[in-house]
Amino acid sequence: MRMRHDGNLKAADKPSNDWARFLATWVRHPLKLGAVAPSSRSYCATMVSAATTELDGPILELGPGLGVVTRALLEAGVAPERITSIEYDKNFARTLKNRYPRVNVIQGDGFDLDTTLGDQRDTRFAAILLAIPTLSFPQEKRQSIMADYISRLLPGGNLTQLSYSPTPPIKPVPGAFGVTSSRIVWDNIPPARVWIYSADTARTATRRAA
Ligand SMILES: C[S@@+](CC[C@H](N)C(=O)[O-])C[C@H]1O[C@@H](n2cnc3c(N)ncnc32)[C@H](O)[C@@H]1O
Repeated sequence: MRMRHDGNLKAADKPSNDWARFLATWVRHPLKLGAVAPSSRSYCATMVSAATTELDGPILELGPGLGVVTRALLEAGVAPERITSIEYDKNFARTLKNRYPRVNVIQGDGFDLDTTLGDQRDTRFAAILLAIPTLSFPQEKRQSIMADYISRLLPGGNLTQLSYSPTPPIKPVPGAFGVTSSRIVWDNIPPARVWIYSADTARTATRRAA
């Protein structure tokens, strides 16, 4: 089934209502949503261009919201069948399934991938794009979550994280993973970097990508 025309969508599903929907959901669940507005187009493009989508293999998107990063992946030429998007919010997940019928949208918990992925739990991904807020967890817990994600990557793959933190939201763990970042994307609300994690190959340091 192809994406339906805006005119055929229920009012709540129309992309023109995304900002209002996002804000209304944030008012009810600020910690789960973690943002007052969807990421900007240039932020999404930065995230996608930093992700190792050029590797062969499936792509995992965690916390897609209403699909701005999903759209950026598709616009960058990623085949929809490669993408699995895990969204906790039932209404958001329903909208995503309508908008992107060829993407594997799963309504579930991106922090419990064994359960959420089910039979696909042993899949290794070319890239993981993470937008689920992590700052409410203590640093050690964040690091163990990241180590689990890194273990699900194919060799050479990376994880790109949305975070408004001015410093790495998840500190590197020598021997497990390292972190770099993009430049700040100023037109995002609020301005933010993309944090880029990959398996530690000896030199672990926090360095900024040029
Ligand atoms: C900061 S928003 C990002 C939305 C979108 N990717 C963007 O960049 O605008 C975080 C998203 O993660 C979802 N989320 C929160 N906790 C989650 C969980 N445990 N598993 C999956 N998704 C979750 C929220 O419902 C929300 O859609």
